[in-house]
Amino acid sequence: MKDKQRDSLDSLALSRTFSEVLEARLSRRQALKIGAGLAALALPFTRGALAIAPGEPLLGFKGVPASSSDLLVVPDGYRADVLYAWGDPAGVPAGMPAFRFDASETAEEQALQAGMHHDGMEFFPLPAQSASSAHGLLAINHEYTDEALLHVDGLKTWSAEKTAKSQNAHGVSVIEIALRGEGWQVVRPSRYARRITARTRMLMSGPAAGHALLRTAADPSGTDVRGTFANCACGRTPWGTYLACEENFHVYFMNAGAVPPDQRRYGVGARAMPWHLTDARFDAGRHPNESNRFGWVVEIDPYDAGSRPRKRTALGRFKHEGAMLTLSRDGHAVVYMGDDEAFERIYKFVSRDRYDPVRSGASRNLLDQGTLYAARFDADGSGEWIPLVYGEGALTAANGFGSQADILIRTRVAADAVAATRMDRPEWIAVHPGSGEVYCTLTNNTARGTTGQPGPDPANPRRYNIFGHIIRWREAGGDAASRNFQWDVFVLAGDPAHEDPARRGSVRGDAFGSPDGLWFDRRGVLWIQTDASSGLMRSADYRGIGNNQMLAADPASAEIRRFLVGPSGCEVTGVSMTPDARSMFVNIQHPGEGGMASGWPDYRPGGRPRSGTVVIRRHDGGVIGA
Ligand code: FEO
Ligand code: CA
Ligand code: CA
Ligand code: CA
Repeated sequence: MKDKQRDSLDSLALSRTFSEVLEARLSRRQALKIGAGLAALALPFTRGALAIAPGEPLLGFKGVPASSSDLLVVPDGYRADVLYAWGDPAGVPAGMPAFRFDASETAEEQALQAGMHHDGMEFFPLPAQSASSAHGLLAINHEYTDEALLHVDGLKTWSAEKTAKSQNAHGVSVIEIALRGEGWQVVRPSRYARRITARTRMLMSGPAAGHALLRTAADPSGTDVRGTFANCACGRTPWGTYLACEENFHVYFMNAGAVPPDQRRYGVGARAMPWHLTDARFDAGRHPNESNRFGWVVEIDPYDAGSRPRKRTALGRFKHEGAMLTLSRDGHAVVYMGDDEAFERIYKFVSRDRYDPVRSGASRNLLDQGTLYAARFDADGSGEWIPLVYGEGALTAANGFGSQADILIRTRVAADAVAATRMDRPEWIAVHPGSGEVYCTLTNNTARGTTGQPGPDPANPRRYNIFGHIIRWREAGGDAASRNFQWDVFVLAGDPAHEDPARRGSVRGDAFGSPDGLWFDRRGVLWIQTDASSGLMRSADYRGIGNNQMLAADPASAEIRRFLVGPSGCEVTGVSMTPDARSMFVNIQHPGEGGMASGWPDYRPGGRPRSGTVVIRRHDGGVIGA
């Protein structure tokens, strides 16, 4: 059975030969003093389709220098082409309006085009479950909007039409793409093409669906939700679905009155978006439960444009960064997730039932039942997953918890009660395709150690952590479902040559700061993407680091080499590859943000910078990164 499960994961699969993985793990094992037995190391739970020849280095490209230019830079021998930028037609059969450079699209037209500010992304081969590397679907999150760019006259004279256009520029794109000759193209029209927006009907499912805290005047059932937004990072399942995660949902809600504690715990009330001016459901004073319907992981079937997305409440409610799914030894789905805010937690979900690779359809609702855990990192390098289960430990009626559904809706309050470790902004999580080791970016936390805030701890060792770090752990017995793990810090980001020892990073290789995107390819290369704010980038501490970028790391040697630098003012985020690893998809988000002028990608005088998906290929057609 296990072998069948492994085979079925070929499309997610790896990399290095078994002996190399074992060797790498052994050397690390000594370094980490991790006490797992040899037997536990022998678990390449996915099979290598792209083995590396003995002696071949993992990283084979020539690194690129830091850059502050307004160009996207890739290594010699590579090319990067824009595939799908904000406003490009998605290819929805209902209509394909071309982007207008003055942003004069109507709300209705925007609903047929690429949304704004691309983020997490996954490639799904066509046909489904094949290893096709020349035809497939891309599911792409559109995290947020910049209203000044989205409308001809920006935020002036706000209207219901502007709210609708903004809502339609959020959500997810599913587009069909094909490799034709040298280049990838969006297939238009496509029966798969779809825009999911902040107005799309979707279902709440799992233990909290229908709970009183999810019921609203417009939906007394508590199950019928309109839309998703703030979709940051992502995940994919072995049964071929996409997981879009709702992160900073709180800024869409206004509460002008007294903000109740549960709203305050999630930051609801201190809004920044004007939707509530014309759409009453974003008035959190009048409709207090509407914000409870956001902050979830949304499962989308990219292969069925007519399917309704489902918010999987069993995975908890917080500012979800991503949802990295792997399988435990005996086939349970394990989903690793970060809550991206200073001093919030790392979570994992373990499904009650096992994934059935033979009857994949039977696994469709696997994410509806299971156990949610929050992580505690102890000073001795061990750690524990603490179950967030009603009636266990502090999670009782005496402490104000009403049910399991209540715990899932108020996950942060439950994590507070069990004293899970407060981290430096957990962003993406990646699982090594051979060893199962888990890596998590902690992007930065400049509040740590300041007045009234927690000080450094072993897992978050820096006061004023301006550069961030990457933590990693290995589950006990090499089983993703384990309750215990061993951890260490993979790298402290920053400039290894920084004059201030408190800010000096432990990077072996190219300097970077504020790691965010994190993803393993099938060969076992750890890709790191950065998201330093424009304020940080301009600070003296970041001198020499340049624009946000993507780097490649060898987990065994810890060497980190710069692969791509984005244009001015952008964040680099979202990464996926075709199964043959010869085409890589990367998103450039918010070029020109924070007053850092950018003309990317059109460089039109008087034009608007646009977020977009780029596809990266080698001139010789070879494997990316090798
Ligand atoms: Fe949307 Fe935490 O990045
Ligand atoms: Ca992010
Ligand atoms: Ca970030
Ligand atoms: Ca972002």
